[in-house]
Amino acid sequence: MGRTFFVGGNWKCNGTSEEIKKIVATLNAGQVPSQDVVEVVVSPPYVFLPLVKNELRSDFHVAAQNCWVKKGGAFTGEVSADMLVNLGIPWVILGHSERRAILGESNEFVGDKVAYALSQGLKVIACVGETLEQRESGSTMDVVAAQTKAIAERVKDWSNVVVAYEPVWAIGTGKVATPAQAQEVHAELRKWLQANVSAEVAASTRIIYGGSVSGANCKELAGQPDVDGFLVGGASLKPEFIDIIKAAEVKKSA
Ligand code: 13P
Repeated sequence: MGRTFFVGGNWKCNGTSEEIKKIVATLNAGQVPSQDVVEVVVSPPYVFLPLVKNELRSDFHVAAQNCWVKKGGAFTGEVSADMLVNLGIPWVILGHSERRAILGESNEFVGDKVAYALSQGLKVIACVGETLEQRESGSTMDVVAAQTKAIAERVKDWSNVVVAYEPVWAIGTGKVATPAQAQEVHAELRKWLQANVSAEVAASTRIIYGGSVSGANCKELAGQPDVDGFLVGGASLKPEFIDIIKAAEVKKSA
């Protein structure tokens, strides 16, 4: 079974309801390959999830940008996985580096969140990635392996997990990883899954790249054998997101 190309748009903490409606209208008008070629998921801020879910074309799906580590209760300001399920939100992004770095989410905490979200029936985009300092000190693989291990220790069924490799130094910087840099880490991550989870999980799990992906660089990145799609930040708010979705064609013709 091939890995269906996956393109996620992480809108982060952006947008007014008017702006969000405009982005959705652009997406709804976009000509993109069919769902057997590319799976498209966009992730608006929590407050806009119902609006986007209602207005978005039915072949695109929505993701929350986070959810709480366990069932809801006395956790002021949090949103539980159960609530997302209740609203019919199929996906959630967990472990984004902006939350790991700024809010201090540890590998273990992210692993617990992934396990709980999956147990409630959500599909998870689980983010991993090294800082510039870690890359320069040669510890990239140790860092992403430790992040992945904390998930693997808590998760049995990987069929609803997409792993997003997002080097922190490439996020929002315009400094995209070279295709070779992305391919190297993706291949290593797949090898890690093969050695530590199973050959089947390694072969079937989508590993997508995030960090300054644009309409200009997406095709070359998509041409790498272990790059199964993208998690796009800034460019996912713009019409060029449609071009990034179309990069799936590169795989189809490969
Ligand atoms: P940019 O595409 O803006 O670099 O953001 C990437 C990202 O963090 C997606 O989750």
